[in-house]
Amino acid sequence: MSDPFENVDAASPQMIDIIAAGLETRAADEDMLPVIDEYLGLLNLPEGGCIVDIGSGTGGITRRIADRFPAASVMGLEPSAALTQKAIDLAGDRPNLTFSVGDGAALDLEDAVADVAILHTVLSHVSNPEPLIAEAVRILRPGGTLVICDADFSKAMMGIVPGDPLGSCCEAFVAGSVTDPWLAGKLKPLVGKAGVSVSHFSVRNRVVTSGMGALALVRMSGARLVADGVIGQPLADALEAEYLRRAEAGTLYSFLPFVTLLATKPSA
Ligand SMILES: C[S@@+](CC[C@H](N)C(=O)[O-])C[C@H]1O[C@@H](n2cnc3c(N)ncnc32)[C@H](O)[C@@H]1O
Repeated sequence: MSDPFENVDAASPQMIDIIAAGLETRAADEDMLPVIDEYLGLLNLPEGGCIVDIGSGTGGITRRIADRFPAASVMGLEPSAALTQKAIDLAGDRPNLTFSVGDGAALDLEDAVADVAILHTVLSHVSNPEPLIAEAVRILRPGGTLVICDADFSKAMMGIVPGDPLGSCCEAFVAGSVTDPWLAGKLKPLVGKAGVSVSHFSVRNRVVTSGMGALALVRMSGARLVADGVIGQPLADALEAEYLRRAEAGTLYSFLPFVTLLATKPSA
């Protein structure tokens, strides 16, 4: 099974809608916001600086960045035309925010134009992260900051007992929708090879015990297993119903660590 995030536009319209809704829910989720706000709080941005969000999806996080830094110009670049259109539709009238289609491995930007380049849950979905990191570093001005935030999917869990169907659903998500579940542990050496020096590395657990924050994982996994002929729609519906039942009953437990790394491009 290939990771649908590697080429979102090749997915079915139903899957693109599930992905888009899932990204929007996650970007606004109270369990996710501390992860985002931690790295935004560490940024030292000059007045009128430039922030590039690479792999911006529907722009949920990019909008938060634009609101937090109203004097900065914030650019979301995303290879999927479908997600970029949704990002443009959702952007509102923020004067400091733009979205366009672009591949993180070959950015259509001059060298040294950005003060901050962000890759938020992008690298675990690509088969070769090195060109994306190299491009992010290339567009940074000397002294600029690279931010990488990604889930450590190798530790993802939703089961509450051995053999729990929701646990299996989570495993199926990682197997079918994440290219490198072990990326988090490789980040430090990867950015070291790109010539930047790590200034911050932290891990925060995202634990969802209520609400819809992790429902997209169950939806994506179910839709994928149905499309691949592994399960039928009634089982996919039942998995979603079980998520909702647990959220209501207070027995939901979804666990996923997020790693945040900041690195500085050396001054020339
Ligand atoms: C899990 S989503 C994260 C989206 C957004 N950063 C967020 O957190 O809401 C992964 C994103 O990486 C994008 N992506 C995949 N390959 C990419 C590439 N080569 N360059 C830039 N983005 C890429 C996908 O299209 C998708 O929007």
